[in-house]
Amino acid sequence: MGMTARKRYSNDLERLESHLAALMQKGQEIQKIDRSLPAPPPSYEKGGWTALKLILVRYYMPGYLNIQAKRMNVAYVDLFAGPGLNLVGNRKRPLPGSPLLPFTLTQKDNAREFSFHVYCDKQEKYVSALETRLAMLGQESRCSVNRSDANIFVDKLASLLGGEGIKHSLVFIDPEGLDFKFDSLARLLDTIDCDAILNFPSAGLHRNLNNPSAKTEVTIREFLGLKSADPMPRSGDEALETYKTNLGELGKNVSMDIKVSSGDGPFHYHLIPAVKETPGGSPWFYRIFQGAKKMVEGFEGKILDVMADQIDGELTKLEDFLQ
Ligand SMILES: C[S@@+](CC[C@H](N)C(=O)[O-])C[C@H]1O[C@@H](n2cnc3c(N)ncnc32)[C@H](O)[C@@H]1O
Repeated sequence: MGMTARKRYSNDLERLESHLAALMQKGQEIQKIDRSLPAPPPSYEKGGWTALKLILVRYYMPGYLNIQAKRMNVAYVDLFAGPGLNLVGNRKRPLPGSPLLPFTLTQKDNAREFSFHVYCDKQEKYVSALETRLAMLGQESRCSVNRSDANIFVDKLASLLGGEGIKHSLVFIDPEGLDFKFDSLARLLDTIDCDAILNFPSAGLHRNLNNPSAKTEVTIREFLGLKSADPMPRSGDEALETYKTNLGELGKNVSMDIKVSSGDGPFHYHLIPAVKETPGGSPWFYRIFQGAKKMVEGFEGKILDVMADQIDGELTKLEDFLQ
């Protein structure tokens, strides 16, 4: 690798590595606890790009907490939470699932804390796995774990958060496909004050936009928030732009799209952080997420295995990989 390329990568590499190391440490702790149980709870098996997604959400937390939690009680809300443990990449490395990300923050992150955590998943086995893991980590007292369809659960959030004295939340929305309807998103944003990070399934949508059945077209329209007179988008990129425009109409008028790629095929999705513009123009949002975008888009999922090997002190040479 030439000098310029090395320079371009070095800062982002260091930051990525430091986030990954914190995730790996917590992942190992969770796996150790799992192994001490008579029947380990279920986990997910995911590709390396899952680590990029987790890193992006984690990356935002200290900035969010240090701005908002200084002034009020804030919550982390994870509507498609899953079981709390991912086995990632070829080596099935344990990494915490998104619901446990707040508990991976360390002194080094120098961040305030969420006062409360709210989780939702529609599958009983994942809900009870998450409850077990929260209890084993000693975190269950500040958490509400709910088995529900997120499209229904959003209507209960305002009173749940209000009862805990929460004034603002960071909401992560990470469905597998088009499971979260735009109308549910509208009700969520109408009833609670929050910053949101949304997973937008660009590649999956793009595939489905090619000659969709009538039923698929309805699902896509409900997901994107299209009115009956609106034309269907023709590509994943066009769908993404439509979604961001519609988000702006819901008051989340500052957003960005960050592409997460697997690196071994066309698979990708976008993460969309979205907030309401502040009178000062939200410069902190751009400061945080432009850095995060450069970092996440500069790497593909497959690099995480190599990097994790390095962190483990193994012999794989990261720099050779980047040549
Ligand atoms: C991509 S996974 C979530 C991964 C998790 N956020 C993580 O990063 O560790 C999606 C989860 O959403 C759940 N799910 C699917 N449809 C749902 C719905 N309508 N409401 C709530 N949960 C749902 C699935 O059971 C699955 O556990």
